[in-house]
Amino acid sequence: MILLTGGAGYIGLHTAAVLLEAGHEVVLFDNFSNSKPPGVERLQAIAGRPVVCVQGDVRSAQDMDAVFGRYPVDAVIHFAGLKAVAESEQQPLRYYDNNIGGTLVLLQAMTRAGVKRIVFSSSATVYGEPDSSPVAETAALRPANVYGRSKRMAEDILRDLHVAAPDWSIALLRYFNPVGAHPGGLIGEDPNGIPNNLMPFVTQVAVGRRPELQVFGGDYATADGTGVRDYIHVMDLAEGHQAALEWALGDPREVLTANLGSGRGHSVLDLVRAFEQASGRTIPCRIVARRPGDVAACWCDPALARQRLGWTARRTLQDMCRDAWNWQRNNPDGFG
Ligand code: NAD
Ligand code: WQD
Repeated sequence: MILLTGGAGYIGLHTAAVLLEAGHEVVLFDNFSNSKPPGVERLQAIAGRPVVCVQGDVRSAQDMDAVFGRYPVDAVIHFAGLKAVAESEQQPLRYYDNNIGGTLVLLQAMTRAGVKRIVFSSSATVYGEPDSSPVAETAALRPANVYGRSKRMAEDILRDLHVAAPDWSIALLRYFNPVGAHPGGLIGEDPNGIPNNLMPFVTQVAVGRRPELQVFGGDYATADGTGVRDYIHVMDLAEGHQAALEWALGDPREVLTANLGSGRGHSVLDLVRAFEQASGRTIPCRIVARRPGDVAACWCDPALARQRLGWTARRTLQDMCRDAWNWQRNNPDGFG
């Protein structure tokens, strides 16, 4: 059985759908601080069978011990954490408490339970402003905000653990920009409040929840002046987790650090144009000042994940826009 902490969230639900489809048994564990129970009901509809979901907090040793005591967990995928960059700067202690404190409590509970396989949600944010793109895993780590530093620290903790406990198998996955949704339109990204990220903002403009997209900066040194990122379809990302999980279940007893991205860069305007084509809707845009902390361009070298995990992103920007639109159109208010 695979334990997915933060399993009711955006990436957790999609990964659970892929794992269930592949025949794995999963248990989701979430405190619903940034997700809603209807997401789990939708997952059950996709899977066509009940899915165990435990409400609890990764910072609670009692909650964690209860899960490991009740279910025969073979491996953990650790998604649970907070992820809003600006909020992390305003509430550093809350972010370190959740992202570092939660990781420590989880790892201690895994140690007590004798579970030694973990796939960890890291982020491209650990690179900060890269010297150049594509970014390989060997690039310098210079996270520029509290959120990014919490991910780098958690990676360090996992590497230190492996030095002391070399029989663990640990995958550190650095995701680039996950977007899109399950093709069935039952699950997708449902951010609280005003979206920070580009794709959910665009989809909310498309359904009339927001009047226009503000494009943060039109004077970057990129082909059209807008920021360039590596967007990855969340179903490709979910399949990347499946590959990393299967790697860990083989007990390689090492730490593997891998980028998960498409290896392609797209500008804000590329994404808006692709979305307009996929949706048939016009997205009113206004170029405004740059957003502090943003980099001009960042996309990854995905070669290592291909070599070590046999995984590669297959879906195009058009696929991402079509599925994001399908989700938002069918669920204008998200999970409600
Ligand atoms: P999400 O917020 O949708 O999912 C995270 C889930 O964790 C939520 O359901 C939340 O309720 C839960 N959670 C938070 N703190 C918890 C706690 N203390 N105990 C139990 N549950 C808790 O976010 P997501 O986009 O699915 O991201 C999943 C992971 O991937 C996060 O660790 C995030 O930092 C990382 N990541 C996300 C992105 C992205 O752009 N979405 C990119 C790189 C890395
Ligand atoms: C993408 C592009 C913006 C919103 C963030 C985190 C990163 C990772 C993924 C978790 C940029 C532009 C955006 C808008 C815009 N998350 N934009 N108008 O900043 O690359 O990465 O999410 O780990 O850590 O930093 O993603 O979607 O916010 O922005 O013009 O309303 O869209 O300037 O060029 P980002 P994003």
